[in-house]
Formats: sequence, C-alpha cells, structure tokens
Amino acid sequence: MKVVNSCVLKEWYDSEYSACDNGTLFGELRGEFKQFLDSLPDGPGQALELGCGDGRNLTALARKGYSLSGVDMVDSTVQSRKHNPWLRELNFQQTDILNYLPAHESYDVLVCSEVLHFFTREELLQVIPKIISAVKPGGYIFLDLLSDLTRYFQESGEPFIWDKEAGLSIQESEGFFDAWLGDFDIYSFNKFFDKQSWPLSNSDNLPIDPYTWQGTYVSVCARKRQ
Ligand SMILES: C[S@@+](CC[C@H](N)C(=O)[O-])C[C@H]1O[C@@H](n2cnc3c(N)ncnc32)[C@H](O)[C@@H]1O
Repeated sequence: MKVVNSCVLKEWYDSEYSACDNGTLFGELRGEFKQFLDSLPDGPGQALELGCGDGRNLTALARKGYSLSGVDMVDSTVQSRKHNPWLRELNFQQTDILNYLPAHESYDVLVCSEVLHFFTREELLQVIPKIISAVKPGGYIFLDLLSDLTRYFQESGEPFIWDKEAGLSIQESEGFFDAWLGDFDIYSFNKFFDKQSWPLSNSDNLPIDPYTWQGTYVSVCARKRQ
C-alpha cells in the first residue's frame, strides 16, 4: 500500500477550484443534505460551513434566508464568488480548521461535510468539540464521515492512503457521532455509498496522478438541546 504525503492536498484543491470556470466543482447537493435542508426552519439566522469548498451547500442555505460564513484551507470560492450571486455576502475565511476557533454558541446552522475524513483520530478529538460548541442551543448541525474508504491510482491500479487520516469504519463513525453528540437530539442517521474519479476539473496542473476512491458517507442531522 502506497502512503502519499497529504500536504499535496492543498495544491490539488487549489488547482481544481482555480480550473473550474463556472464556479461549481462539486455540482448537485447530496440527498442527505437536501433532507437536512428540508428539516431546517427558514432564516434569518447564521450559518457556518467548515471546509465549504465551492459553496454549493452554503448557496442552498442562502436560498433559505441564512447569512453565510465559510472556512476553507484554500481559496475555494475564488470562482464561485464571481459567478454565484448567492455567495455575494459570504463571510469567507481561508484557514485550516485545525487552527480555527468558531465563536461559542453563535450559529443556528453548522455544516462540516466531506471534510472530516482528512483528519487523524487525534485531530478529530481536537476539532469536533470546537464544532459542537459553536452551535447555538436549539441550532442544527450536519456532519458526515467518509468511512470504509479505499483509493487507487487509475493508471497503475495501485491502492494508496494519505499519511494523515483516521481511516474509520462505518461502525466506528456511527459510534463517534453517538459519543460526540450527547448534547444534541439526533433526528437522522444516513449511509450513502459513493465512488468518484478525480480530478473533477480539467486542470492539467495537479500534484498527484488521477485516482478513484470509494467509501460510505455516514451522516448525521442533529439539533442542540435548549
Ligand atoms: C470534498 S470538498 C467538500 C466541500 C464542501 N463541504 C461540499 O460538500 O461541497 C473538501 C473541502 O475541505 C477542505 N479542507 C480539507 N481539509 C481542511 C482543513 N484542515 N481545513 C480547512 N479546509 C479543509 C478542502 O480544501 C476542500 O475544499
């Protein structure tokens, strides 16, 4: 099994977001996130997404009347801010989630989706309490963990892992969410198998070879008790 240095991830995402001319790298919302949206009251309110990418989830939250804050380790909304009027008022901060401390009990809606699988177990224990404490009492949270994850390079077929990731099984992810969300009422637990080939853009300037991954998103929708 090849182990790839995860420091290339920043460069990889930077190239992908810069190369997507129309501003949307990820396209359609996931079904579980749509269900989460349906469960939310309409805004006004404050919404924060950690690892917000091109802002597709934030756009949906803006349509529901929420004011937006987004954090990403790269300038991920560089194109979408130009093309997407829903992101015009986005308060975007480029920083690593590991170094970011969201204000305590300040958000009506908090999302961290398709990101947590990049953290080691130790980092998850550091990040999750910060995320949870940023939700207002009565506020809503959507989290997911890509579990049972495998990747292989398309040309050689060689499997690889990042040097820095938790590598959780579905059962472990479910257990973590149960343990972390003690102050919340969990109202939806979902599993969604996905398989994707990367890169998503036409960028010809990427730091690793094209690869395919597959895994199961374990996701949770929950509301913080008052
Ligand atoms: C697969 S994308 C998901 C984007 C968005 N959440 C969505 O669902 O459309 C993962 C994003 O997480 C960001 N990311 C990964 N690790 C991060 C970290 N430690 N701090 C901040 N952002 C991070 C990446 O730059 C990338 O934009």
